[in-house]
Amino acid sequence: MGVDRLCFGTSTFVAGRLRPEKESEPGMAALHAAVSAGVRLVHSNPKLGTQWAVRRVLDSASTADVSHLVKAEVPLGADLATMRSRIMLAIEESCTNLGVDQLRAVTVEIDLKRTQDQALLVNSQAVMEFYANAAEVVRGSGRVSQVIAYCHSPAHLAAASLAEDVHGVAAQYNVAEPWPALFLDDIERRGLQFVGMSPLRRGTLAAHPSGAADLTPLRWVVTEPRISSVVITMSSPRHLRQVIKAVRSPLEAPSVHELASAWLNAQHRHASPEGTGWSPADRLLSSYLPAQEDPRD
Ligand SMILES: NC(=O)c1ccc[n+]([C@@H]2O[C@H](COP(=O)([O-])OP(=O)(O)OC[C@H]3O[C@@H](n4cnc5c(N)ncnc54)[C@H](OP(=O)(O)O)[C@@H]3O)[C@@H](O)[C@H]2O)c1
Repeated sequence: MGVDRLCFGTSTFVAGRLRPEKESEPGMAALHAAVSAGVRLVHSNPKLGTQWAVRRVLDSASTADVSHLVKAEVPLGADLATMRSRIMLAIEESCTNLGVDQLRAVTVEIDLKRTQDQALLVNSQAVMEFYANAAEVVRGSGRVSQVIAYCHSPAHLAAASLAEDVHGVAAQYNVAEPWPALFLDDIERRGLQFVGMSPLRRGTLAAHPSGAADLTPLRWVVTEPRISSVVITMSSPRHLRQVIKAVRSPLEAPSVHELASAWLNAQHRHASPEGTGWSPADRLLSSYLPAQEDPRD
């Protein structure tokens, strides 16, 4: 994998809603350097207040062929009018903030906090219809080429892969959350993309006890050739340089599938959490996973 499959994540790269006090210049310099190095995808969320910096950098960069992925969140169970207004708002706001007419993709996500009927979260038909409806709304906007279904759990990813008119699926994908690897055969067979988010798990996986950054977890992620894009946040040119070096040297002996299986086995040893809380490792797992004996079949 080279820089062509890197997607610049923007949730915290400059001052915004999540990091209002952050110094923005290093993050903007990182994005500028990323584009100069060949990165052509940027993922942003209009709700996080960082698209201003994306626009400022791209307006001053010499290339015009950068594409945007933007996030839209909708509660599961929302009626079609609500879904349409949430998605259209994300598209319109993003186009205005970024100064573009067209977006490459919307990454549609189930808004877990605002989903009133929690039982729907374990209803794979409802999840599949959610993504299919979202795809129709996005297509109807006339401003977006693709729909990527961002998934919180294995069960949701399995359901999203079946949804009509979805171009790809996305999930957090790193050594601590390797379960999407179990779906890559199926994703490839269906001709879908897979977008891996948070390869360093918000930076925690890069922290080495010695204080020096260790990007082996990123090298693990990019070992898998079927990952279309890896979305990673970088707030300094130094981190960008280290990331580019890491993605150019994937690990040699891919253990992607073995690690995912080990994670899954570990999850099965834990009882489902009690209460109304919901986590990717809960009971959703059991019903919708592909065959585990040999998921490469
Ligand atoms: N639901 C969704 O749609 C969703 C969910 C999760 C993520 N995302 C997208 O994915 C992007 C990435 O996710 P993320 O930010 O959660 O996680 P991440 O990219 O795995 O981790 C980002 C963290 O890694 C640090 N980092 C980067 N390069 C480093 C290096 N060389 N050495 C040490 N630390 C380094 C960054 O620090 P610095 O900032 O200091 O460089 C930042 O704190 C987000 O910006 C967002 O666009 C979307």
